[in-house]
Amino acid sequence: MIRRIAKSKPNAAMTAAPFVPASRSLGRLRAAATHCEGCPLFRPATQTVFGAGSRGARLVLVGEQPGDQEDLAGKPFVGPAGRLLDELLSEAGIGRDDIYVTNAVKHFKWQQRGKRRLHAKPTAREVTACRPWLEAELESVQPAGVVCLGATAAQSLLGNKFRLTRQHGDLLENSEVSAAWIMATWHPSAVLRAPDRARRGELRKLVIADLAEARKRLDRRPK
Ligand code: URA
Repeated sequence: MIRRIAKSKPNAAMTAAPFVPASRSLGRLRAAATHCEGCPLFRPATQTVFGAGSRGARLVLVGEQPGDQEDLAGKPFVGPAGRLLDELLSEAGIGRDDIYVTNAVKHFKWQQRGKRRLHAKPTAREVTACRPWLEAELESVQPAGVVCLGATAAQSLLGNKFRLTRQHGDLLENSEVSAAWIMATWHPSAVLRAPDRARRGELRKLVIADLAEARKRLDRRPK
């Protein structure tokens, strides 16, 4: 059964909305996103990291925000989390070429530590500000399903009451989102950062099971 999510309250103060064109061509959206100044995160980032993948994808995966390597490459999930994501997808029987992958926030938020740029978690306002891009991408791709990777993506599309530990793998519906169902599971970085081998193995199994469930759902329903 698919459960319905309550409507979100837009925050007009800080938003990417004025930068999002009316066109739902992915090429036009991507080009326009390079100029986005909808929140302060565009300043320290190298570039906007827009989504990538198949424009006819039946499944969209949404991460949190680009990391250091993604910021430099301009493509989502090309660093360590992306390599693990490829492994998890393959174990769940999903080909990376069959999906569209993007992030809830399109700029890398970071803090300098010595020579390294360390990931900094985006605030709820920054996530909300960036949501018009995610909505436009979903309207363009029109997938059957969306899998949110981690709490930030889940809270962007499912609201801030969403809890991964309780609700991962559940099929949910949000009438504001262009997809028949939305599911959430852990982010590959949570697997990489697990405190020990046992927990890493446990999280890995849970993510693969959630992704496999999403694949089964796609197999059952035509787009
Ligand atoms: N983590 C994310 O959430 N997205 C990326 O693109 C890379 C790492």
